Amino acid sequence: MPLSKRSTLTQFLIEERRRFPGASGDFNALILDVALACKAIARAVAFGELGGMLGNHGESGASINVQGETQKKLDVISNDMFISANNWGGHLAGMGSEEMDDPYQIPGQYPRGKYLLVFDPLDGSSNIDVNVSVGSIFSILRAPQDVIDSGRDIKAEDFFQPGAQQLAAGYALYGPTTMLVLTVGNGVNAFTLDPNLGEFKLTHPNIQIPADTQEFAINASNSRFWEAPVKRYVDECLAGKTGARGKDFNMRWIASMVAEAHRILMRGGVFLYPRDTKDPSKPGRLRLLYEANPVGMIMEQAGGRASTGREPMMGVMPTSLHQRIGLVFGSRNEVERIERYHREPVAQKDDANPLFAERSLFRD
Ligand code: AHG
Ligand code: MN
Ligand code: MN
Repeated sequence: MPLSKRSTLTQFLIEERRRFPGASGDFNALILDVALACKAIARAVAFGELGGMLGNHGESGASINVQGETQKKLDVISNDMFISANNWGGHLAGMGSEEMDDPYQIPGQYPRGKYLLVFDPLDGSSNIDVNVSVGSIFSILRAPQDVIDSGRDIKAEDFFQPGAQQLAAGYALYGPTTMLVLTVGNGVNAFTLDPNLGEFKLTHPNIQIPADTQEFAINASNSRFWEAPVKRYVDECLAGKTGARGKDFNMRWIASMVAEAHRILMRGGVFLYPRDTKDPSKPGRLRLLYEANPVGMIMEQAGGRASTGREPMMGVMPTSLHQRIGLVFGSRNEVERIERYHREPVAQKDDANPLFAERSLFRD
């Protein structure tokens, strides 16, 4: 294929920037550094056992990250790749990562910039040892003005901005092909890594998620811990043609949120990792700043929706760097339905009770 046929990521970013004559190019350079980290991770993942990449981190006994989860070797390697690709360029005021308890300070020998990068360097890492797709997911925020002006060390609080303030979000998916999916607030574009050139090429411009779907994704082993609105939604999907929905649904669960997000971007669907009663200290499984927010921005930029079930994800004000939250995202009409079920009274399932029926007093 002639080189000119598809834009590279670099060409795409330069052409986008021409729309903003005042832009310094800093932002594009940052995205390209993130893309470089993703390419490095893609190679490490591809070598698998041949590169000694599988298994847990730590010589004797597994090491545990701030989430209380076992760190895989590749979690740590991927985190290091994100850091070394991004700490030197002068674009960042600091970073936050699933794999680091505290915010990462840009080392003294490098200049500090105006952006914050927060990421999950390897999402779905329990899939690594079984050769199933994994990904990286990231969010870019503007650093608070006093950080930019003073160049001071960053604090966790500097990341406490609602998702609506993200400047960019994206993920890389290490599957049969490596893809980079990116939004800079002007739609969602996806690039496939050309392994011959080592370049991401634009293959899926301006992705739009279908508003309706017949496919849902949830870890059903948690069903006894679900709240009533989630139970109701899933029960109705399972009832299929014979139930309230009047159509059959299909189900998927990859245990790699990035891979599920990608499937949903490509063909619609809905993903739920809702708040449940499994562990009262954990209000949800997934992390707000580097999982829910970036996937939420991508969904909304593609015409989908992301929610806690109770409120739009993009409006949630974070209160800690590693905060967990209930997450529902995907096809707009399904997410809105799940939000509606959360607003409706609990006994809604009991259609026999006229107080809670479709036209009852208790409906919004
Ligand atoms: P991570 O590997 O970064 O900890 O994230 C895994 C996440 C997410 O990708 C996936 O949807 C979910 O955890 C799977 O959870 P279960 O094991 O409960 O299914
Ligand atoms: Mn993750
Ligand atoms: Mn991870």
